[in-house]
Amino acid sequence: MKSDASGARRLRVRVLGSAAGGGLPQWNCRCRVCRLARTEPQRVVPRTQSSIAVSIDGERWALINCAPEVLHQLQREPALQPGRDDRHTPIQSILVTNGDVDHVAGLLSLRERSPFRLHATPEIHGVLRDNPIFNVLAPDCVERCDVALDSRIELLPGLAATVFAVPGKTALYLEGDQVDIGAEGESTVGIEFDVDGRRLYYIPGCATVTPRLAARLEGAAALLFDGTLWRDDEMVRAGVGQKTGRRMGHMSMSGVDGSMAALAEVGIKRRIFIHINNTNPVLIEDSAERREADSAGWEIAFDGMEITP
Ligand code: MLT
Ligand code: MN
Ligand code: ZN
Repeated sequence: MKSDASGARRLRVRVLGSAAGGGLPQWNCRCRVCRLARTEPQRVVPRTQSSIAVSIDGERWALINCAPEVLHQLQREPALQPGRDDRHTPIQSILVTNGDVDHVAGLLSLRERSPFRLHATPEIHGVLRDNPIFNVLAPDCVERCDVALDSRIELLPGLAATVFAVPGKTALYLEGDQVDIGAEGESTVGIEFDVDGRRLYYIPGCATVTPRLAARLEGAAALLFDGTLWRDDEMVRAGVGQKTGRRMGHMSMSGVDGSMAALAEVGIKRRIFIHINNTNPVLIEDSAERREADSAGWEIAFDGMEITP
């Protein structure tokens, strides 16, 4: 059991992937940030898509979200590789926070008959059931566990997690003519870990910080929060798309209605942006935007980052 000098148990978080959907560089993108990631990787460190691993004892791990690059991500993390026997995995559970491709596609690569529990809200399980390709996760191996909003689940022995709704939207591939942006329900959730009074939150997608969410975050030891875009029209300005952050269900970092402003007065010890889109200039180590985030007390997640709140 991992504990500090006082004997308190400590949560360990390992960032497996810190980029938003598409990764960095994105295969078909030549925006400024993607170009720098290819030509000057010391100025823009390449990143894989959004996922974290958590553990309380360093031996048993859970993944939160499962990115398309999961095999590559696991290859970089000895703690997540087979530790004994010919067939073994330290990964006991996977919890997904929405049905987006960047968060579920990696499940298809974990189909080699190692048992684990797959946790999601009933709505997200419904989405996975409607895509029969996910049946490669054999039901006698992978137990699909429904998670009710605001209930505590035992993710690992001795590690509970609470799943709660955050303003978001349905997955892109499920969008119909009408899209309910900012809806709070089972389609987009945040995760709360509370280990002996130290709370850590993982919220990779969020359309707005409601007063209820701000109140929940007050006093947190650490927050990993939606860092998709720096400004709402960034993709339009970069000439790589027509969508705003708002339309994608992601609030921006900067500006009067951005997340840095919305959370400025909330008492949070460590604040870290994750799920960062490849157009976001905060990814450039020497950019003015990075300096602004630094001065506001925000860290920028990178693949391999370890957080022990
Ligand atoms: C998002 O976070 O908005 C999605 O991952 C977008 C996508 O599916 O590409
Ligand atoms: Mn995403
Ligand atoms: Zn790009």
